[in-house]
Amino acid sequence: MEERSKNTFYVTTPIYYVNDVPHIGHAYTTIIADALARYQRLKGKKVFFLTGTDEHGQKIEKTAIEKELNPQQLADRVVVRFKELWQKLNISYDYFIRTTEKFHEEGVQKIFKKLLEKGDIYKGIYQGWYCISEENFLSEDVPLEADGYKICPDCGRRATMIEEESYFFRLSAYQKPLLEFYEANPQFVRPQTRMNEVVSFVRQGLKDLSITRTTVKWGIPVPGDPKHTIYVWFDALHNYLTGIGYDWNPELFQTFWPADVQLIGKDILRFHAIFWPAFLLASELPLPRTILGHGWWLKDEAKMSKSKGNVLDPNIILESVGADPLRYFLLREIPIGQDGNFSHEAFVHRVNSDLANDLGNLVQRTLTMAVNYFNGSLEKLGPEEEIDKKLAQSFEETKNRVYAFYDDYNLNRALEEIWGYLNYTNKYLAECQPWKIAGKSETHPRLARILYQAACALRAASYLIYPVMPQTTEKIWKLLGQSKKPAEICAADLNFYERPESFSIRRPEALFPRINLQEFIKDTKKPEGEINQPIRREEKMEYISFDEFKKMDLRVAKVLAAERVPNTNKLLKLQIDLGSEQRQIIAGVAESYSPEELVGKEFIIIANLQPAVIRGIESQGMLLAAEVEGKAIIPFFDREIPPGTKVK
Ligand code: MSP
Repeated sequence: MEERSKNTFYVTTPIYYVNDVPHIGHAYTTIIADALARYQRLKGKKVFFLTGTDEHGQKIEKTAIEKELNPQQLADRVVVRFKELWQKLNISYDYFIRTTEKFHEEGVQKIFKKLLEKGDIYKGIYQGWYCISEENFLSEDVPLEADGYKICPDCGRRATMIEEESYFFRLSAYQKPLLEFYEANPQFVRPQTRMNEVVSFVRQGLKDLSITRTTVKWGIPVPGDPKHTIYVWFDALHNYLTGIGYDWNPELFQTFWPADVQLIGKDILRFHAIFWPAFLLASELPLPRTILGHGWWLKDEAKMSKSKGNVLDPNIILESVGADPLRYFLLREIPIGQDGNFSHEAFVHRVNSDLANDLGNLVQRTLTMAVNYFNGSLEKLGPEEEIDKKLAQSFEETKNRVYAFYDDYNLNRALEEIWGYLNYTNKYLAECQPWKIAGKSETHPRLARILYQAACALRAASYLIYPVMPQTTEKIWKLLGQSKKPAEICAADLNFYERPESFSIRRPEALFPRINLQEFIKDTKKPEGEINQPIRREEKMEYISFDEFKKMDLRVAKVLAAERVPNTNKLLKLQIDLGSEQRQIIAGVAESYSPEELVGKEFIIIANLQPAVIRGIESQGMLLAAEVEGKAIIPFFDREIPPGTKVK
C-alpha cells in the first residue's frame, strides 16, 4: 500500500467491553484521543477519530446471563451509556464502531479467510487446562500445583487438561519480522519503557496463538466452519481497519490507514504491540505509527473495582462540575504513561487553583476592567512599551513549545506551558497596575494598551487550551467578542495580536466557580450507575397468571450452618432446615452478610426451583432478596415461624 499523504490524522481508542457501564478509566483514554484529534484539526489536518464497543466473547455472554438479557440486548443498553457519556464529555469522534455491526463481522471473516488461505492461520489442536465449571481455559501463567494439576483462579476448583480443535494464527513466524520492525521504529510503542518491555517479551519467543473457540457461542463464526467462533481479540483488533472502510470503502481506508496514534491502557499492551502488528504483517498492511500506552487511574491509591465499591462514575462528577474541569484534571495531573491517583482533594485543588484562580480570575479581572473603564470597547491604544512587547514575544515562544508538546502527545507538558504563560500575564497586570492609572484622561491610551495586551494574551492562550477544554475557549472567545470560533482559526495562523486593534468585550460571569471540598465529596458519593437502572422504567410489565404463581413453592427456611464459598466474594453455602428436610443452597449474599450473622435466621426460599450447580456446588433452592446497589438484602420475618411453612 502506498504511503498516504501527511495531511491526515487517524486516532483510535480501544473499543470498550459492554459488560459494564463506562467509568473514569474509559473516559480518560477517550479524552486523550479527543484532545489529540481536536489539536490535529486545529492544525488543518483531515482527522478521523474512531471509538466504539467490543461486544462479543465469553465475558459479555456471561454478564448477559447474570443480567437475564441476551448478549445483544446487553450490548444495546451499554452502548447507550457510552454514547451518552461521550456526548456529555464533548468527545468529537467521527465514528462509533460496534463489533456486532455486519460490515465489521464480514470484514473480520474476510481477513480470517485470507490468512487461512495464505497459511498464516491453520487448524490444529489446542491443549490446555480447562475449568469445567467456569467453562474456560486457564491462562498459561497459572502455576502447576504440587500434585501436577492447575487450580482455576476464578472458582478454586481443579482444572482438567483437555484438547480442543482450534484454529491458530502463526504468531511464531512473526517473531523475527516484529523484532526487525521494533528495531527500525523505536518509537512504535510509547513510552519507551513499554517498548522495552515488548521487545524483551518477543525476544523470549512467540508461540502460535489459538484464535477460535468452540465453547463460546457469542462471536463471529469462522467462515465455512461455524462451530468455531473467532476469538474476541482477533475480532476486536480488526475494528481499527473495518471502522475506516476496510472492505467497504477503499477510498476512506486508503486515506486514513495506517493509524497515526492508537491509544491503549498498559493492560492491553501486548495485544496491541505484538498480536496486532503481527496480524497486520500477515495481511500485508502497513503498521500503525504509534501505540501510546497510558497508565491507570487509581482511586485514593487503590485499584478501582466493583467489589471494593470504589469505581468512579464520571457522570456524577460531570453533573457536579461539567466536562472541562474533568478533562483538564485528567490530562494535567499526570503524564500519559504514568499511573494517577484520583482523589477528591486533588481534583478540587486543581479546579480551584488552576481553573478558578489562575485562569478564571485573569479573565474576570481583565474583562471587568475593560467593561468598567472602556465600556468593553478597547480602542485608541497608546504605544507598545517594552513590557508589552515582551508579553507578545513570550506568547510566540510559548506557542511553539505548546505545539511541539501537542505534536509529541505530551499533553500535561503542553498545559504546564500554557499555565506558565497565564501566570506571566497575571504578573504583567500586577506590574502595570492598570487600576492605578484608571480615571485619568492623560493615561487613557496607556490603560487601553494594557488591557488590550491582556485581552490579546487571553485570546491567544485560551486558543491553546482548546484541545483540552473546548467549551472554555469558546466561552472566553465569545466574551472577547470574537466573530470566529476558535476551531475556525488554523493553528499556524494564530497571532498574539488581534487585528484590527479593537475588542468588544462583555461583562464576564465566573468561568469556574470554586468548589467546596465537603460539598463535592457529598455530591459525588452517589452510587455508581448500573446497567439495569434506567432501562427498567422503559420495560413493559409482563403479567403472569395466578396459576403460574401457584406453581412456585415458597417456603420458610431456617439457616443451620453457613460458610463462604472459597475464592468468591459473593457466595455463601448455607445448610437450611425446611421442616421436613434439610437442604444446601448457594446464595449470593456474602457482600451483605457474614456467615455467622445468618445462622439461626429465617427467610423465604423457592423450594421447587430446579437444582443448579454454582461454582461446582449444588444449590437446592434459591432465597429471595432485594438487590440494592448491587448487593443482596434479605427480607427477614418479624417473629419466629416453623421452618417449612408455606408462603403465599
Ligand atoms: N475490549 C478491550 C479492548 C479491545 S481494543 C481492540 C478492553 N476493554 S476495556 O473496556 O476493558 O478497557 C478499555 C480501556 O480502558 C483499556 O485501555 C484500559 O486500559 C482502560 N482502563 C480500564 N480501567 C482503567 C483505569 N482505572 N484507568 C485508566 N484506564 C483504564 O480492554
